[in-house]
Amino acid sequence: MELFFEIHKDLPREGPGDSDSTRRAFRKLAALPDEPAILDVGCGPGAQTMDLAALTDGIIYAVDTHQPFLDHLQQKVIDQGQTRRIKVLNQSMKDLNFSPASFDLIWSEGAIYIMGFEAGLRAWKHLLKPNGYIAVTELSWLKPDAPQEIQAYWNKEYPAMKTLEENLNIIHDCGFYLIDYFVLPDTSWTEEYYQPMQKRVTILREQYQRDPEKLAQLDEALEEYELFKQYSVWYGYVFYIMQSKI
Ligand SMILES: C[S@@+](CC[C@H](N)C(=O)[O-])C[C@H]1O[C@@H](n2cnc3c(N)ncnc32)[C@H](O)[C@@H]1O
Repeated sequence: MELFFEIHKDLPREGPGDSDSTRRAFRKLAALPDEPAILDVGCGPGAQTMDLAALTDGIIYAVDTHQPFLDHLQQKVIDQGQTRRIKVLNQSMKDLNFSPASFDLIWSEGAIYIMGFEAGLRAWKHLLKPNGYIAVTELSWLKPDAPQEIQAYWNKEYPAMKTLEENLNIIHDCGFYLIDYFVLPDTSWTEEYYQPMQKRVTILREQYQRDPEKLAQLDEALEEYELFKQYSVWYGYVFYIMQSKI
């Protein structure tokens, strides 16, 4: 676990994503008030939090449970003079401490999987104001009959992963209108996530060159990137943008 955090410490993102996709999803929210109350769930180091702050005059509550990520984000918030509009809080997505109907928008990039797509939507819905919005990214199968190697990998790493169509049905069953969805581009995996991680792994390989166990763990950390290069047509992160029916 320690090496995991050494790899991930101070990376710009903790999962695939990119500013253009954040903007693209945000622009779909036609009826958002001028100063919306926004909850950013599983904010990590907060790349999307800062993008949201640039897109709106609202207040953003950014929550996560890993304090080093929150400290990283808090420093950015201070450096950019955003302490009035961005509140960084250590809270679990499984037990969010806000009153019902607090938010116009709940945002979550690469984190709803921790509860499960459906469980997260159901658990967070009561925090929305009437007809509030949820926008999340979720790893999804994009095509049927993926090759065995990649199926086996994701069945081990994320057995609850659904197809895009299954997630659209869940959105409907949970009482939301689907506004739109789109697949994140490959660069939001490669340039924004895997390549910064690869650079960090290269430095750590030097540091641990005499520690075969750590070297093996470092190789393992890049296994997902190697598979992505071969199999990315079969799966992807999908931005799902929805609005509560009530
Ligand atoms: C894949 S990362 C995505 C982070 C960020 N949204 C991004 O795209 O860079 C998932 C995040 O969920 C956080 N997390 C894990 N369990 C959590 C929980 N129970 N409540 C809130 N956040 C949690 C992790 O610390 C991590 O920052």
